[in-house]
Amino acid sequence: MLKNESRQKKILFSAVQPSGAITLGNYLGALRNWVDLQDDFDCIFSLADLHTITVRQEPLVFRRNIIEAYALLLACGVNVEKSIFFIQSHVDTHAQLAWILNCYTQFGELSRMTQFKDKSLKHSDNINAGLFTYPSLMAADILLYQANVVPVGIDQKQHLELTRDIAERFNGIYGDVFSIPEPYIPKVGAKIMSLQDPTKKMSKSDTNANACITILEKPDMVMKKFKRAVTDSESEVRYADGKDGVNNLMGIYSITTGKSYKEIENEFRGIGYGEFKVAVAESVIELLKPIQEKFKLIMQDKEQLSKLYNDSAEKARYISQKTLSKVMKKVGFITK
Ligand code: TRP
Repeated sequence: MLKNESRQKKILFSAVQPSGAITLGNYLGALRNWVDLQDDFDCIFSLADLHTITVRQEPLVFRRNIIEAYALLLACGVNVEKSIFFIQSHVDTHAQLAWILNCYTQFGELSRMTQFKDKSLKHSDNINAGLFTYPSLMAADILLYQANVVPVGIDQKQHLELTRDIAERFNGIYGDVFSIPEPYIPKVGAKIMSLQDPTKKMSKSDTNANACITILEKPDMVMKKFKRAVTDSESEVRYADGKDGVNNLMGIYSITTGKSYKEIENEFRGIGYGEFKVAVAESVIELLKPIQEKFKLIMQDKEQLSKLYNDSAEKARYISQKTLSKVMKKVGFITK
C-alpha cells in the first residue's frame, strides 16, 4: 500500500483540530474540499487532538469537541469507506515519530515559525514546549503516511515547508525514507469573512457572536445573523472594491446556489439589501439542513461512531507503523 510507484492515486494527508465549533467559513473554505478530494486522492484525514492541548483545554469540553468534530465531519461527507479518518491520539506512532523528528529539527527553525510567535503572544501565560514543537508533530502526521500532497491554508504553509526541510534532511542522512509532500492549493479556496467586520476572516473566537455562523447553527439564528450583517450605505447588490460586506454575502450566495456574480447582480437589481440578505440566509439554511440532520443521526449511535473511528485508527496504525519501523531501524534503534 505504501509503494507510491504502483499506486494509481496520490496520497493526500490533512488534519483539523477539534477546537470547538466548526464555522461556515471552515466548511466552505476547507472541509467541503475534503469531500471532493476523496475521489481524486487516497485520502487520510485526522482530527489533530494532540495539537489541541498546546492550548489548555477543559477536559469535558475537549472530549465533547472531539466527538462532535468527528461526527460533524462525517455529516459533512467525509466517507470512511473511501478514506481513512482517525483521531490522532488513537495512533501512537504520531507521538513517537514526533519525538524522533524533534531531534532532527533545529531550535532556530522552530523559533522562526510565525504561528509560534503569534500564539506565544496570545497565550503568554502558557508558552509550553508543545507549542514550540507543534510543527514536528505536524511533520510526523504527514510523513508517517508518505503523503504526496497536503492541502493547506496560508496559515499552515510555513509548517509544511518545515516538514519538507525535515524530510529532506532525514533522507539526506539515511537515504529515501520519506516522500516529500507538496502543498495542494484547492481549486476553489473560498474565504468567508466576518458578517460584522468583512475585512476580517470569519472566526469562532470573534467576540461578536453575530460575526460568525457555525455549521450547527439553528435556522432562526442564521436568519437573524444574516439580517444583521454589515453592508454599506449604498443599496445596490454588486461586486465591487470597497463593498466588502456585500462582496462577502455575494461570495457565500454564489457558493450555495452556484450562481455567478453577474447572475446574482441581475437577480437583485433594484431590490435592495434586505431581501438579498434573506435570500442568502435561506440558501445557507438549505445548505446546512442535511448536514445538521445527518449529524443528529450519527450522534444518536455512539457505538457505531466508535466503531468507525476505531476501524480507521487501526488502518492508520498499520500504515504508519511501517514508516516508523523503517525510521527507527535507520536511526539505529534495536528492532523489537
Ligand atoms: N495544524 C493544523 C491546523 O491547526 C492541523 C494539522 C495537524 C495539520 N497536523 C496536520 C494540517 C498535518 C495538515 C497536515 O490547522
